[in-house]
Amino acid sequence: MVVSKSDAIIIVGGGAFGLSSALHLSRKGYTNISVFEKDDNVPPRSSAANDLNKIVRAEYEDQFYTDLTIKAIDAWKTPLFAPHFHQTGFLHCVSGAAPEKAVDTLNRFRASAEKDSRIKPHVLPLKNVNEVRQACWQLDGELPGWHGYLNRFDGYAHSANALAAVYRETQAAGVRFFLGEQGAVSEIVYVSTLDGRKCAGIRTKNGRFHPSSLVIVAAGAGAGRLVPEIGKEVVAKSWSVAHVHLTDEETSALRGIPVTYARDLGFFFEPDPKTNLLKLCPMGGGYVNTDPKTGVSHAPDNVSDSAFLPEADEKQLRELLRQTLPSLADRPFVRKSLCWFADTNDSDFIVDYIPNTSSSIIIMSGDSGHGFKMFPIVGSWITDLLSAPDSKQSVKRWRWKQPAADAEKADWGGDVSWRLGQSTEFTSILPPKASKL
Ligand SMILES: Cc1cc2nc3c(=O)[nH]c(=O)nc-3n(C[C@H](O)[C@H](O)[C@H](O)COP(=O)(O)OP(=O)(O)OC[C@H]3O[C@@H](n4cnc5c(N)ncnc54)[C@H](O)[C@@H]3O)c2cc1C
Ligand SMILES: *[C@@H]1O[C@H](CO)[C@@H](O)[C@H](O)[C@H]1NC(C)=O
Ligand SMILES: *[C@@H]1O[C@H](CO)[C@@H](O)[C@H](O)[C@H]1NC(C)=O
Ligand SMILES: *[C@@H]1O[C@H](CO)[C@@H](O)[C@H](O)[C@H]1NC(C)=O
Ligand SMILES: *[C@@H]1O[C@H](CO)[C@@H](O)[C@H](O)[C@H]1NC(C)=O
Repeated sequence: MVVSKSDAIIIVGGGAFGLSSALHLSRKGYTNISVFEKDDNVPPRSSAANDLNKIVRAEYEDQFYTDLTIKAIDAWKTPLFAPHFHQTGFLHCVSGAAPEKAVDTLNRFRASAEKDSRIKPHVLPLKNVNEVRQACWQLDGELPGWHGYLNRFDGYAHSANALAAVYRETQAAGVRFFLGEQGAVSEIVYVSTLDGRKCAGIRTKNGRFHPSSLVIVAAGAGAGRLVPEIGKEVVAKSWSVAHVHLTDEETSALRGIPVTYARDLGFFFEPDPKTNLLKLCPMGGGYVNTDPKTGVSHAPDNVSDSAFLPEADEKQLRELLRQTLPSLADRPFVRKSLCWFADTNDSDFIVDYIPNTSSSIIIMSGDSGHGFKMFPIVGSWITDLLSAPDSKQSVKRWRWKQPAADAEKADWGGDVSWRLGQSTEFTSILPPKASKL
């Protein structure tokens, strides 16, 4: 099916992938674009990108994503995105106590950075604690056994502000936004055709039907609810996030620090000068919320259910601070939450038509927790797909993944090369409910 420039296009989800798609479609001249977002605000509280910052690092174990990120970093330097990109560098290390898997992963990342002639000039190997300290004098903890490298090609993006900027830009370009009650999509509506079915539009929770020629499901961790056909190929998973509140002086003293990442402990960012918040994230195998009936994990409906920090993560983040910035090690954590993303078993994105729908509906999902760095270019994958002569995704690894009928419980938590630890069930880490008495 060919979508004409004036055809109605509906994007479900006003997070990173949805907003970028709206931007690229409107830049290509599509004039009837509507974004449906269940939160009443953009950046949406339920978006994985509604956050102070996300790492933008170019070196991947896989050259394909390295090339893409280099393209994305070029785009981060253009006027719309540049205010939100901070090329502070990426201090990528392990502590002396890191398991072998973490050390091996670090070494693969470093090899990838040093192999690429565009990145290599920015890479500084850090063989021991003294060299780490020289690369970032503000880290005044003991840094026991720390080693790794600093990559000045990398940095971070202020993700919530970048989303807000693209929201304003697309609104000004005529993209319509349906938020909250109006924007919560309850189902995709199909009609049957001779050779299967075709998407006719969407229905929102308030019962309204909105017709469209093309629907793009960019619902992040919510994709599985709208596209159940994807089965266990996309799993809602979460990592936790926490912050410490600094004084003005502390924020100033840490200005310009690189993203500091110990693969075995987690990472933190340069503090945000507006809020004086320093954000930390422990990473790891993540948390899933598996529906026992289907074996598929979905994000909890209400973001307030995820507003806590699991005990094990708290312990790990305190250790990270003790080793790096010990004066903050006992400071209370604030704005704690689990942040839900859409995980695939190979960390590849999915950007493709749903099969046998006459190219009337696209799913873009499977960000696997590494998609934000691509924010400036994500939407171009949609315009590329729309202009593919045979309606076929030319990037094989992003094609639709048909779930096997006999797929076992989706659990690849411990097998992902760049993560440590197994996935844990959300229900097993829920904090005890406050007594109602
Ligand atoms: C803790 C954490 C750390 C991360 N760190 C990094 C990092 O350092 N670097 C990096 O590159 N990436 C990182 N990521 C990943 C990045 O945040 C995601 O790749 C990115 O946000 C994915 O964009 P998305 O649009 O697919 O999903 P989201 O940004 O989550 O947006 C999905 C949107 O869809 C909406 N929605 C869902 N269902 C419906 C419905 N039925 N109706 C209407 N709207 C709906 C949601 O409300 C949400 O706003 C991290 C993720 C997490 C969780
Ligand atoms: C956009 O498409 C919708 C649904 O087909 C239609 O009702 C509306 O009039 C269109 N708007 C414009 C500006 O073309
Ligand atoms: C989410 O949970 C909070 C706290 O329990 C509650 O106040 C709020 O009304 C809930 N929101 C929705 C949409 O159910
Ligand atoms: C991911 O799942 C697909 C299909 O279910 C399977 O063929 C593939 O081997 C899996 N890959 C990994 C890395 O587990
Ligand atoms: C799509 O239709 C073809 C032809 O009828 C069929 O072979 C195939 O299994 C279908 N694919 C899916 C995912 O339903």
